[in-house]
Amino acid sequence: MRVLLVGSGGREHALAATLKRSPLLDALFTAPGNPGTALLGENVAIAADDVAALVAFARAERIDLVVPGPEAPLVAGLADACAAAGVACAGPSAAAARLEGSKSFAKAVCDAAGIPTARWERFEDAGLAHDFVRRRGAPIVVKADGLASGKGVVVAQTVAEAEAAITAMMQEGSLGRAGTAVVIEECLEGDEVSLFAFCDGETALLIGAAQDHKRIGEDDTGANTGGMGAVSPPAFFDRDTQEQALDLLVRPMLREMNRRGTPFRGVIFAGLMLTPTGPALIEYNVRLGDPEAQALLPRLRSDLLPVLAALAAGRLGEARLRFSDEAAVAVVLAGRGYPGTPATGAPIDGIERAEAMHGVHVFQAATARDAAGTLVGAGGRVLTVVAVASALAEARDAAYAGVAAIEWPDAVWRRDIGVRALVRALAARHAL
Ligand code: AMP
Ligand code: GLY
Repeated sequence: MRVLLVGSGGREHALAATLKRSPLLDALFTAPGNPGTALLGENVAIAADDVAALVAFARAERIDLVVPGPEAPLVAGLADACAAAGVACAGPSAAAARLEGSKSFAKAVCDAAGIPTARWERFEDAGLAHDFVRRRGAPIVVKADGLASGKGVVVAQTVAEAEAAITAMMQEGSLGRAGTAVVIEECLEGDEVSLFAFCDGETALLIGAAQDHKRIGEDDTGANTGGMGAVSPPAFFDRDTQEQALDLLVRPMLREMNRRGTPFRGVIFAGLMLTPTGPALIEYNVRLGDPEAQALLPRLRSDLLPVLAALAAGRLGEARLRFSDEAAVAVVLAGRGYPGTPATGAPIDGIERAEAMHGVHVFQAATARDAAGTLVGAGGRVLTVVAVASALAEARDAAYAGVAAIEWPDAVWRRDIGVRALVRALAARHAL
Protein backbone atom coordinates (compact mmCIF):
# COMPACT_ATOMS: atom_id res chain seq x y z
CA MET A 1 0.00 0.00 0.00
CA ARG A 2 1.03 3.59 -0.63
CA VAL A 3 0.46 5.70 2.49
CA LEU A 4 0.37 9.46 3.05
CA LEU A 5 0.93 10.29 6.71
CA VAL A 6 -0.01 13.85 7.71
CA GLY A 7 1.80 15.79 10.44
CA SER A 8 5.28 16.59 11.71
CA GLY A 9 5.51 15.74 15.40
CA GLY A 10 6.83 12.95 17.57
CA ARG A 11 3.49 11.18 17.20
CA GLU A 12 3.92 11.12 13.43
CA HIS A 13 7.51 9.83 13.70
CA ALA A 14 6.21 7.02 15.95
CA LEU A 15 3.38 6.31 13.47
CA ALA A 16 5.86 6.26 10.59
CA ALA A 17 8.11 3.81 12.45
CA THR A 18 5.10 1.58 13.19
CA LEU A 19 3.80 1.67 9.60
CA LYS A 20 7.31 0.97 8.34
CA ARG A 21 7.19 -2.44 10.08
CA SER A 22 4.20 -3.50 7.93
CA PRO A 23 4.89 -6.01 5.16
CA LEU A 24 1.96 -4.39 3.32
CA LEU A 25 3.70 -1.01 3.02
CA ASP A 26 5.01 -0.16 -0.45
CA ALA A 27 5.68 3.57 -0.03
CA LEU A 28 5.46 6.05 2.83
CA PHE A 29 5.12 9.81 2.35
CA THR A 30 4.86 12.26 5.23
CA ALA A 31 3.50 15.80 4.82
CA PRO A 32 5.30 17.84 5.95
CA GLY A 33 7.20 15.37 8.20
CA ASN A 34 10.42 16.04 10.08
CA PRO A 35 14.03 14.78 9.86
CA GLY A 36 12.94 11.63 11.72
CA THR A 37 10.21 10.69 9.25
CA ALA A 38 12.67 11.48 6.42
CA LEU A 39 14.68 8.44 7.57
CA LEU A 40 11.64 6.18 7.04
CA GLY A 41 10.09 7.49 3.85
CA GLU A 42 9.80 10.61 1.75
CA ASN A 43 8.85 13.97 3.24
CA VAL A 44 6.52 16.10 1.14
CA ALA A 45 6.55 19.91 1.52
CA ILE A 46 2.82 20.34 2.13
CA ALA A 47 1.49 21.88 5.33
CA ALA A 48 -0.55 19.50 7.49
CA ASP A 49 -3.67 21.67 7.15
CA ASP A 50 -3.43 22.36 3.41
CA VAL A 51 -6.31 20.05 2.58
CA ALA A 52 -6.49 20.80 -1.14
CA ALA A 53 -2.77 20.20 -1.69
CA LEU A 54 -2.83 16.98 0.38
CA VAL A 55 -5.70 15.56 -1.65
CA ALA A 56 -4.10 16.62 -4.96
CA PHE A 57 -0.88 14.87 -3.89
CA ALA A 58 -2.79 11.75 -2.82
CA ARG A 59 -4.46 11.53 -6.23
CA ALA A 60 -1.30 12.23 -8.20
CA GLU A 61 0.72 9.66 -6.23
CA ARG A 62 -2.04 7.01 -6.21
CA ILE A 63 -2.13 6.96 -2.40
CA ASP A 64 -4.13 4.02 -0.99
CA LEU A 65 -4.54 5.41 2.51
CA VAL A 66 -4.21 8.84 4.14
CA VAL A 67 -3.31 8.65 7.84
CA PRO A 68 -3.93 11.98 9.61
CA GLY A 69 -1.87 12.64 12.76
CA PRO A 70 -3.07 16.00 14.15
CA GLU A 71 -6.60 17.37 14.45
CA ALA A 72 -6.26 20.55 12.37
CA PRO A 73 -6.59 18.90 8.92
CA LEU A 74 -9.56 16.86 10.17
CA VAL A 75 -11.39 19.89 11.50
CA ALA A 76 -10.58 21.54 8.14
CA GLY A 77 -12.28 18.70 6.24
CA LEU A 78 -9.42 16.44 5.08
CA ALA A 79 -11.50 13.26 5.41
CA ASP A 80 -14.42 14.82 3.50
CA ALA A 81 -12.14 16.01 0.70
CA CYS A 82 -10.53 12.55 0.53
CA ALA A 83 -13.97 10.92 0.34
CA ALA A 84 -14.96 13.27 -2.50
CA ALA A 85 -11.77 12.37 -4.35
CA GLY A 86 -12.16 8.62 -3.76
CA VAL A 87 -9.11 8.36 -1.47
CA ALA A 88 -9.35 6.28 1.71
CA CYS A 89 -8.65 8.23 4.90
CA ALA A 90 -8.30 6.87 8.44
CA GLY A 91 -9.84 9.91 10.13
CA PRO A 92 -13.22 11.48 10.89
CA SER A 93 -15.26 13.88 8.76
CA ALA A 94 -15.25 17.54 9.76
CA ALA A 95 -18.73 17.04 11.22
CA ALA A 96 -17.46 14.21 13.46
CA ALA A 97 -14.20 16.04 14.27
CA ARG A 98 -16.35 18.67 16.03
CA LEU A 99 -16.05 16.31 19.02
CA GLU A 100 -12.61 17.90 19.43
CA GLY A 101 -13.19 21.16 17.58
CA SER A 102 -16.02 22.35 19.81
CA LYS A 103 -16.13 21.63 23.53
CA SER A 104 -19.83 22.50 23.76
CA PHE A 105 -20.64 20.12 20.89
CA ALA A 106 -18.82 17.28 22.67
CA LYS A 107 -20.64 18.09 25.90
CA ALA A 108 -24.01 18.08 24.14
CA VAL A 109 -23.23 14.66 22.62
CA CYS A 110 -22.28 13.36 26.09
CA ASP A 111 -25.50 14.63 27.60
CA ALA A 112 -27.62 13.13 24.80
CA ALA A 113 -25.81 9.78 25.14
CA GLY A 114 -25.86 9.65 28.94
CA ILE A 115 -22.05 9.76 29.19
CA PRO A 116 -20.73 10.81 32.61
CA THR A 117 -18.92 14.16 32.38
CA ALA A 118 -18.53 17.32 34.46
CA ARG A 119 -21.70 19.47 34.62
CA TRP A 120 -21.28 22.45 32.33
CA GLU A 121 -22.70 25.61 30.85
CA ARG A 122 -21.75 27.61 27.75
CA PHE A 123 -21.54 31.41 27.73
CA GLU A 124 -21.31 33.92 24.91
CA ASP A 125 -21.77 36.83 27.30
CA ALA A 126 -18.82 37.66 29.57
CA GLY A 127 -21.03 39.28 32.20
CA LEU A 128 -23.13 36.14 32.60
CA ALA A 129 -19.94 34.04 32.76
CA HIS A 130 -18.56 36.24 35.57
CA ASP A 131 -21.88 35.98 37.48
CA PHE A 132 -21.88 32.20 37.08
CA VAL A 133 -18.40 31.63 38.57
CA ARG A 134 -19.14 34.04 41.42
CA ARG A 135 -22.28 32.03 42.19
CA ARG A 136 -20.63 28.62 41.84
CA GLY A 137 -17.32 29.31 43.58
CA ALA A 138 -13.98 27.54 43.05
CA PRO A 139 -12.42 25.22 42.08
CA ILE A 140 -14.01 25.62 38.67
CA VAL A 141 -12.85 25.07 35.09
CA VAL A 142 -13.01 27.71 32.32
CA LYS A 143 -12.54 26.51 28.73
CA ALA A 144 -12.44 28.31 25.42
CA ASP A 145 -15.15 26.70 23.29
CA GLY A 146 -13.03 26.53 20.13
CA LEU A 147 -9.69 24.89 19.27
CA ALA A 148 -6.86 26.58 21.20
CA SER A 149 -4.04 24.00 20.81
CA GLY A 150 -4.07 22.97 24.44
CA LYS A 151 -3.99 26.53 25.79
CA GLY A 152 -7.70 27.03 26.19
CA VAL A 153 -8.32 25.47 29.62
CA VAL A 154 -7.89 27.09 33.02
CA VAL A 155 -8.46 24.92 36.09
CA ALA A 156 -9.09 27.80 38.50
CA GLN A 157 -8.46 27.23 42.19
CA THR A 158 -10.01 30.60 43.09
CA VAL A 159 -12.90 32.69 41.78
CA ALA A 160 -10.41 35.48 40.97
CA GLU A 161 -8.43 33.10 38.76
CA ALA A 162 -11.60 32.01 36.96
CA GLU A 163 -12.66 35.61 36.42
CA ALA A 164 -9.22 36.52 35.08
CA ALA A 165 -9.52 33.65 32.57
CA ILE A 166 -12.95 34.86 31.44
CA THR A 167 -11.65 38.42 31.06
CA ALA A 168 -8.61 37.27 29.06
CA MET A 169 -10.51 34.90 26.76
CA MET A 170 -13.79 36.78 26.22
CA GLN A 171 -12.93 40.44 26.72
CA GLU A 172 -9.26 40.70 25.75
CA GLY A 173 -9.34 38.08 22.97
CA SER A 174 -6.24 36.28 24.26
CA LEU A 175 -7.11 33.17 22.20
CA GLY A 176 -8.64 34.92 19.22
CA ARG A 177 -11.93 33.50 17.95
CA ALA A 178 -11.53 30.28 19.97
CA GLY A 179 -12.34 32.19 23.15
CA THR A 180 -15.36 34.25 22.07
CA ALA A 181 -17.52 31.62 23.81
CA VAL A 182 -16.52 29.69 26.90
CA VAL A 183 -17.63 26.49 28.60
CA ILE A 184 -17.55 26.63 32.39
CA GLU A 185 -17.66 23.34 34.20
CA GLU A 186 -17.41 21.55 37.50
CA CYS A 187 -13.88 20.50 38.54
CA LEU A 188 -13.36 16.71 38.58
CA GLU A 189 -10.96 15.08 41.05
CA GLY A 190 -8.95 11.93 40.47
CA ASP A 191 -6.25 10.38 38.29
CA GLU A 192 -6.30 11.50 34.68
CA VAL A 193 -5.72 8.96 31.90
CA SER A 194 -5.86 9.00 28.10
CA LEU A 195 -7.84 6.15 26.55
CA PHE A 196 -7.57 5.37 22.82
CA ALA A 197 -9.72 3.35 20.42
CA PHE A 198 -10.05 2.90 16.68
CA CYS A 199 -13.63 3.48 15.53
CA ASP A 200 -15.27 2.69 12.19
CA GLY A 201 -18.58 4.37 12.85
CA GLU A 202 -20.07 1.30 14.58
CA THR A 203 -17.29 -0.55 16.36
CA ALA A 204 -14.74 0.67 18.90
CA LEU A 205 -11.53 -1.37 19.02
CA LEU A 206 -9.46 -0.74 22.13
CA ILE A 207 -5.94 0.51 21.44
CA GLY A 208 -4.89 1.11 25.02
CA ALA A 209 -4.28 3.77 27.60
CA ALA A 210 -1.48 6.05 28.67
CA GLN A 211 -0.87 8.76 31.18
CA ASP A 212 0.36 12.15 30.03
CA HIS A 213 2.43 14.61 32.10
CA LYS A 214 1.11 17.98 30.96
CA ARG A 215 2.90 20.49 33.17
CA ILE A 216 6.38 21.77 32.38
CA GLY A 217 7.64 21.28 35.95
CA GLU A 218 8.30 18.29 38.15
CA ASP A 219 5.51 17.25 40.53
CA ASP A 220 3.04 18.64 37.98
CA THR A 221 3.90 22.29 38.59
CA GLY A 222 4.24 25.25 36.24
CA ALA A 223 2.65 25.97 32.89
CA ASN A 224 0.60 23.53 30.82
CA THR A 225 2.36 22.11 27.76
CA GLY A 226 1.46 19.81 24.90
CA GLY A 227 2.76 16.98 27.10
CA MET A 228 6.20 16.39 28.64
CA GLY A 229 6.09 12.62 28.94
CA ALA A 230 3.88 9.56 29.07
CA VAL A 231 3.58 6.16 30.64
CA SER A 232 1.74 3.22 29.09
CA PRO A 233 -0.14 1.36 30.40
CA PRO A 234 -1.20 3.32 33.48
CA ALA A 235 -0.44 1.03 36.44
CA PHE A 236 -3.94 1.28 37.89
CA PHE A 237 -6.03 1.02 34.70
CA ASP A 238 -5.86 -2.51 33.25
CA ARG A 239 -7.33 -3.68 29.92
CA ASP A 240 -10.58 -4.95 31.49
CA THR A 241 -11.13 -1.55 33.09
CA GLN A 242 -10.22 0.14 29.79
CA GLU A 243 -12.89 -1.96 28.00
CA GLN A 244 -15.44 -0.97 30.65
CA ALA A 245 -14.50 2.67 30.12
CA LEU A 246 -15.09 2.25 26.37
CA ASP A 247 -18.59 0.87 27.15
CA LEU A 248 -19.28 3.86 29.36
CA LEU A 249 -17.61 6.75 27.52
CA VAL A 250 -17.05 5.83 23.85
CA ARG A 251 -19.59 3.28 22.53
CA PRO A 252 -22.61 5.44 23.54
CA MET A 253 -20.93 8.37 21.73
CA LEU A 254 -20.65 6.23 18.54
CA ARG A 255 -24.38 5.43 18.74
CA GLU A 256 -25.26 9.10 19.27
CA MET A 257 -23.04 10.25 16.38
CA ASN A 258 -24.72 7.66 14.15
CA ARG A 259 -28.14 8.83 15.24
CA ARG A 260 -27.12 12.35 14.19
CA GLY A 261 -26.04 11.10 10.77
CA THR A 262 -22.37 11.95 11.40
CA PRO A 263 -20.74 8.59 12.25
CA PHE A 264 -17.33 8.78 13.90
CA ARG A 265 -14.59 7.05 11.96
CA GLY A 266 -11.04 7.46 13.23
CA VAL A 267 -9.04 7.43 16.43
CA ILE A 268 -10.97 8.52 19.48
CA PHE A 269 -8.91 9.83 22.37
CA ALA A 270 -11.02 9.97 25.52
CA GLY A 271 -9.36 12.12 28.17
CA LEU A 272 -10.88 10.88 31.38
CA MET A 273 -10.73 11.29 35.11
CA LEU A 274 -10.86 8.21 37.32
CA THR A 275 -13.08 9.80 39.97
CA PRO A 276 -14.08 8.13 43.24
CA THR A 277 -17.48 7.39 41.64
CA GLY A 278 -16.07 5.95 38.39
CA PRO A 279 -14.56 7.24 35.15
CA ALA A 280 -15.86 10.56 33.79
CA LEU A 281 -15.09 12.13 30.43
CA ILE A 282 -13.01 15.32 30.42
CA GLU A 283 -12.81 15.69 26.67
CA TYR A 284 -12.64 13.87 23.35
CA ASN A 285 -9.85 14.33 20.86
CA VAL A 286 -10.12 12.83 17.39
CA ARG A 287 -6.53 11.61 17.03
CA LEU A 288 -3.75 9.89 18.92
CA GLY A 289 -2.16 11.85 21.76
CA ASP A 290 1.33 13.27 21.64
CA PRO A 291 3.37 12.00 23.58
CA GLU A 292 0.93 9.16 24.43
CA ALA A 293 1.33 7.64 20.94
CA GLN A 294 5.11 7.46 21.37
CA ALA A 295 4.56 5.34 24.50
CA LEU A 296 1.73 3.20 23.04
CA LEU A 297 2.94 2.36 19.55
CA PRO A 298 6.28 0.73 20.47
CA ARG A 299 4.24 -1.81 22.51
CA LEU A 300 2.08 -2.75 19.49
CA ARG A 301 2.74 -6.26 18.18
CA SER A 302 0.08 -6.36 15.42
CA ASP A 303 0.42 -4.89 11.94
CA LEU A 304 -1.15 -1.42 12.18
CA LEU A 305 -1.65 -0.83 8.46
CA PRO A 306 -4.48 -3.35 7.76
CA VAL A 307 -6.29 -2.12 10.87
CA LEU A 308 -6.16 1.50 9.65
CA ALA A 309 -7.27 0.38 6.18
CA ALA A 310 -10.20 -1.55 7.73
CA LEU A 311 -11.12 1.52 9.80
CA ALA A 312 -11.15 3.72 6.70
CA ALA A 313 -13.33 1.17 4.89
CA GLY A 314 -15.78 0.91 7.82
CA ARG A 315 -14.91 -2.78 8.34
CA LEU A 316 -13.15 -2.80 11.69
CA GLY A 317 -15.50 -5.62 12.83
CA GLU A 318 -13.11 -8.55 13.18
CA ALA A 319 -9.84 -6.63 13.53
CA ARG A 320 -7.76 -7.33 16.60
CA LEU A 321 -4.78 -5.53 18.10
CA ARG A 322 -2.15 -7.23 20.17
CA PHE A 323 0.08 -5.30 22.55
CA SER A 324 3.00 -6.56 24.60
CA ASP A 325 2.45 -6.62 28.38
CA GLU A 326 5.55 -4.50 28.81
CA ALA A 327 5.62 -0.98 30.17
CA ALA A 328 6.71 2.05 28.17
CA VAL A 329 7.99 5.36 29.47
CA ALA A 330 8.33 8.34 27.13
CA VAL A 331 10.35 11.41 28.14
CA VAL A 332 10.02 14.58 26.07
CA LEU A 333 13.06 16.81 25.54
CA ALA A 334 12.00 20.38 24.84
CA GLY A 335 13.91 23.50 23.88
CA ARG A 336 14.81 25.68 26.89
CA GLY A 337 12.08 28.29 27.29
CA TYR A 338 9.20 26.00 26.26
CA PRO A 339 6.20 26.42 26.56
CA GLY A 340 7.21 30.04 26.00
CA THR A 341 9.63 30.86 23.18
CA PRO A 342 12.10 27.97 22.94
CA ALA A 343 15.82 28.24 22.22
CA THR A 344 16.56 26.88 18.73
CA GLY A 345 19.53 26.14 16.51
CA ALA A 346 21.79 24.13 18.84
CA PRO A 347 23.15 20.82 17.51
CA ILE A 348 21.71 17.50 18.71
CA ASP A 349 23.97 14.50 19.04
CA GLY A 350 23.69 11.01 20.49
CA ILE A 351 20.39 9.79 19.01
CA GLU A 352 22.13 6.71 17.57
CA ARG A 353 23.81 6.02 20.93
CA ALA A 354 20.44 6.13 22.68
CA GLU A 355 18.76 3.94 20.06
CA ALA A 356 21.49 1.34 20.36
CA MET A 357 20.29 0.71 23.93
CA HIS A 358 17.96 -2.23 24.45
CA GLY A 359 14.30 -1.23 24.09
CA VAL A 360 15.04 2.46 23.50
CA HIS A 361 13.53 4.53 20.67
CA VAL A 362 14.04 8.20 19.90
CA PHE A 363 11.29 10.04 18.04
CA GLN A 364 11.86 13.48 16.55
CA ALA A 365 9.44 16.38 16.54
CA ALA A 366 10.67 19.98 16.09
CA THR A 367 14.09 19.10 14.71
CA ALA A 368 15.64 20.49 11.54
CA ARG A 369 18.81 20.18 9.51
CA ASP A 370 20.96 23.31 9.32
CA ALA A 371 22.84 24.39 6.19
CA ALA A 372 25.64 21.93 7.01
CA GLY A 373 23.18 19.07 7.46
CA THR A 374 23.56 18.97 11.26
CA LEU A 375 20.47 18.05 13.24
CA VAL A 376 19.39 21.01 15.42
CA GLY A 377 16.54 21.91 17.77
CA ALA A 378 13.88 23.92 15.92
CA GLY A 379 10.93 24.40 18.26
CA GLY A 380 9.22 23.48 21.51
CA ARG A 381 8.98 19.72 21.84
CA VAL A 382 12.00 18.39 19.99
CA LEU A 383 12.64 14.72 20.90
CA THR A 384 10.84 11.94 22.73
CA VAL A 385 13.02 9.21 24.24
CA VAL A 386 10.95 6.06 24.83
CA ALA A 387 11.93 2.83 26.52
CA VAL A 388 9.98 -0.42 26.65
CA ALA A 389 10.80 -2.97 29.36
CA SER A 390 9.12 -5.72 31.34
CA ALA A 391 8.29 -3.43 34.25
CA LEU A 392 7.70 0.26 34.74
CA ALA A 393 10.77 0.83 36.92
CA GLU A 394 13.08 -0.73 34.31
CA ALA A 395 11.42 1.22 31.49
CA ARG A 396 12.00 4.42 33.46
CA ASP A 397 15.65 3.63 34.05
CA ALA A 398 16.15 2.77 30.39
CA ALA A 399 14.36 5.91 29.16
CA TYR A 400 16.53 8.15 31.36
CA ALA A 401 19.67 6.26 30.28
CA GLY A 402 18.58 7.12 26.72
CA VAL A 403 18.09 10.78 27.68
CA ALA A 404 21.59 10.82 29.21
CA ALA A 405 23.03 9.64 25.89
CA ILE A 406 21.61 12.68 24.06
CA GLU A 407 23.87 15.71 23.81
CA TRP A 408 21.88 18.84 23.16
CA PRO A 409 22.71 21.98 25.18
CA ASP A 410 19.19 23.47 24.96
CA ALA A 411 17.38 20.39 26.30
CA VAL A 412 14.99 20.64 29.22
CA TRP A 413 13.03 17.63 30.47
CA ARG A 414 11.18 16.38 33.51
CA ARG A 415 13.02 13.92 35.77
CA ASP A 416 9.83 12.48 37.25
CA ILE A 417 8.02 10.91 34.28
CA GLY A 418 6.35 7.74 35.59
CA VAL A 419 7.13 8.41 39.25
CA ARG A 420 3.49 8.85 40.21
CA ALA A 421 2.51 5.64 38.39
CA LEU A 422 5.35 3.82 40.12
CA VAL A 423 4.28 5.04 43.54
CA ARG A 424 0.68 4.04 42.77
CA ALA A 425 1.77 0.57 41.66
CA LEU A 426 3.87 0.06 44.79
CA ALA A 427 1.06 1.32 47.01
CA ALA A 428 -1.39 -1.12 45.36
CA ARG A 429 1.04 -4.02 45.74
CA HIS A 430 1.54 -3.35 49.42
CA ALA A 431 -2.06 -2.18 49.97
CA LEU A 432 -0.84 1.09 51.46
P1 AMP B 1 -7.86 20.06 27.63
O1 AMP B 1 -7.16 21.22 26.99
O2 AMP B 1 -9.32 20.03 27.39
O3 AMP B 1 -7.10 18.80 27.40
O4 AMP B 1 -7.75 20.28 29.20
C1 AMP B 1 -6.52 20.47 29.78
C2 AMP B 1 -6.48 19.85 31.13
O5 AMP B 1 -7.34 20.54 32.02
C3 AMP B 1 -7.00 18.43 31.19
O6 AMP B 1 -6.06 17.52 30.75
C4 AMP B 1 -7.29 18.30 32.67
O7 AMP B 1 -6.11 18.04 33.39
C5 AMP B 1 -7.81 19.65 33.01
N1 AMP B 1 -9.27 19.65 33.05
C6 AMP B 1 -10.11 19.89 32.02
N2 AMP B 1 -11.39 19.79 32.41
C7 AMP B 1 -11.37 19.49 33.73
C8 AMP B 1 -12.38 19.27 34.71
N3 AMP B 1 -13.69 19.36 34.44
N4 AMP B 1 -11.98 18.99 35.97
C9 AMP B 1 -10.67 18.91 36.27
N5 AMP B 1 -9.68 19.10 35.39
C10 AMP B 1 -10.02 19.39 34.13
N1 GLY C 1 -0.91 14.80 25.07
C1 GLY C 1 -2.18 15.36 24.94
C2 GLY C 1 -2.60 15.61 23.57
O1 GLY C 1 -2.08 15.06 22.62
O2 GLY C 1 -3.55 16.37 23.40
